[in-house]
Amino acid sequence: MDALARQAIEVLWRNARGTWTRPSPRLYPHQWSWDAGFVAMGWAQLDPARAITELTSLFRGQWATGMLPHIVFDLNVAQGAYEPGPNAWATARHAPAGTATSGICQPPVHAIALKRIRDVAASRNDGTMIEVNRAIVDLYPRLVAWHHWLRTARDPDHTGLITILHPWESGLDNSPRWDSALAAVDPGNLTGALPRPDLTYVADADERPTDGEYRRYRYLVERLIAVDYDQATAMATHPFRMGDVWFSAILAAADDALAELASVAGHPEAADLHRADADLTRAALDDCWDPSTSRCCDQDRITAAPIVSDTIAGFAPLVAGTSIDRTAVLVERLWSASFAGNPLLRWAVPPSTAMDDPQFDPRAYWRGPQWPPMTWLIWWSLERAGHRRSANQLRAAAIAQLRAVGCAEYIEPLSGEALGSDAQSWTAAVALDWLGHEP
Ligand code: SER
Repeated sequence: MDALARQAIEVLWRNARGTWTRPSPRLYPHQWSWDAGFVAMGWAQLDPARAITELTSLFRGQWATGMLPHIVFDLNVAQGAYEPGPNAWATARHAPAGTATSGICQPPVHAIALKRIRDVAASRNDGTMIEVNRAIVDLYPRLVAWHHWLRTARDPDHTGLITILHPWESGLDNSPRWDSALAAVDPGNLTGALPRPDLTYVADADERPTDGEYRRYRYLVERLIAVDYDQATAMATHPFRMGDVWFSAILAAADDALAELASVAGHPEAADLHRADADLTRAALDDCWDPSTSRCCDQDRITAAPIVSDTIAGFAPLVAGTSIDRTAVLVERLWSASFAGNPLLRWAVPPSTAMDDPQFDPRAYWRGPQWPPMTWLIWWSLERAGHRRSANQLRAAAIAQLRAVGCAEYIEPLSGEALGSDAQSWTAAVALDWLGHEP
């Protein structure tokens, strides 16, 4: 068996907890939402039924409102092993009976994953497809409720751009995209030392967000607790409100996936509605496009200012789907010296922050390192757009990178050093997906 495939399978099995999978053994010991989406695609390569179980497990934590929390906690994990843990969120009134969850969400990759699982099942030509179709009937209404919550609670004015209330909701926690908004957040009396178990699991504290960032992360959670997660109040008063283009682009792609799943779920009439939602977001991303820099910019909902940081989020239209011309502009930018075309890169995959952005930091979590699932999203988008040569080039570089670094959480783009956890489930998952899709 291929050595990378063997390694990836080992990581998934090592991190598996019966019906769900930890993102990594120590740093992330619970089930995370968008990790679970990618992880499900990885399991699909081994067993589509297990992939479905991953998603079903995650949706155990879905709130009655439709909100899908970013963490479903494992109550067997020792208290203090991960912070903020289950007791820090005050979500008991909202989380379904028998579950403990966080109170914020993460990018909605789940419908994309479900569609992918179905495609893998279809290619197997055995009975799996029947089982997956049955699961789609059950999961589809939950996905619809999740998307509906995003499109109402987080976009009450029907703009097509989704607002996040916490950097953790973006998935790209300490991206320079959030610096200005976070700097304006006064963490009040949260001045003392915060528990940072995460720092004990990495070789070097510089690989993780700073204490200053963590104080604000925790303060924002306190503010959400203070309004008991009432979304209308938070959308009017919360001190961090950001129209997130990358999150919104993922939702648009996920709506397209839902449109394809609608008839399998027995709701063919809903397909056009899902496509209309996706189109609304594509139009919103057009409005966020800055032609002078050829990038898509997040919008600060408090100051009404666009965010000018140059990061991987600028490629949002590629993920959402956009015109042939804009796709070509973004492909050119992908291979420019700002991103995957920089000759100093150890492997030609895009860093999370542009190498010529003043905030580029090659070791600091989302401020520069390369993240395989983000490479996967761009690769998948290129495939969908018919840019086969670019897609194949990116996939080859990504696989070469993973053969060298293993299932690292993120990678220092210049030296190629593996950073964060060395057994990250979603890295293993995208490795398996790539290996399963020979061009
Ligand atoms: N990614 C965050 C962490 O590092 C939480 O979602 O813990």
